[in-house]
Amino acid sequence: MKRKKLIVANWKMNMNLQQASILLHRLQERIQIHKDIEVVLAMSYLHLQPLSLQIDRRKFRQAAQNAYYDDHGPFTGEVSFSMLHDLVHYSLVGHSERRVKFNESLDDVRKKVASAFRNGVTPILCIGEQKDEHLRLETKQVVHDQLSSALLDVTPEEVAEMVIAYEPVWAISNGNDYHGHDIATPDDAKEMATYIRHQIESTFGKYAANSVRILYGASVNSENARAFLDADGIDGVLVGGASLNYHEFSGIVNAAYRSLHGIGV
Ligand code: PGA
Repeated sequence: MKRKKLIVANWKMNMNLQQASILLHRLQERIQIHKDIEVVLAMSYLHLQPLSLQIDRRKFRQAAQNAYYDDHGPFTGEVSFSMLHDLVHYSLVGHSERRVKFNESLDDVRKKVASAFRNGVTPILCIGEQKDEHLRLETKQVVHDQLSSALLDVTPEEVAEMVIAYEPVWAISNGNDYHGHDIATPDDAKEMATYIRHQIESTFGKYAANSVRILYGASVNSENARAFLDADGIDGVLVGGASLNYHEFSGIVNAAYRSLHGIGV
């Protein structure tokens, strides 16, 4: 089965509306329409509506970075998936920064995945181990537990539609200079994609396992993207820091094009 490549920008909590609009403008100038590549921009709630009027939908889809699992009610300060329903195609769910800095539990993440589907939003479920877990060689156990818990309420057909981003937390935001920094390798990404796909297959069957798209994320940039995109079983990348720079991000989309068409190495 041929799965479309997926390149996701995670703008996190950056830029005012004017800066975000300029970045979008620059990306629209540089990024071509590719029928085999889907480019998704996960932006702040504040930017979703105004940028929906500017965005070229042939090139980009919008995503939220998070949402609350109840549809409405007394939850001051929250935004629900039902409110986002008309605005976004995707939403990140369970990003490590949400899990660690905002104490999102496994149960919260499970409810968010279910709520996203209930409201017609496709979840990009983020999973990955912390540094101490990595050092204790618990990566697979952690990923297994996060995945099985998050997918408790979903059907095989829903799993086939969704996206899973493996992000080793210890390798996130290590910037462009890798010397002396912790990085994961394309082989690590491939090993975890295989592991995740096996787990999906054993719970949800072959169709779901062959259809679900698995991304790698953590310090991806225009230089290292190609190696991750070429890794077996990796269908794309989730990009934080480098997505704020239009040269970098358009370079990553270009790397996906070259990977798909076997151009250069
Ligand atoms: P990074 O962030 O690319 O800056 O490491 C990735 C992420 O947090 O999704």
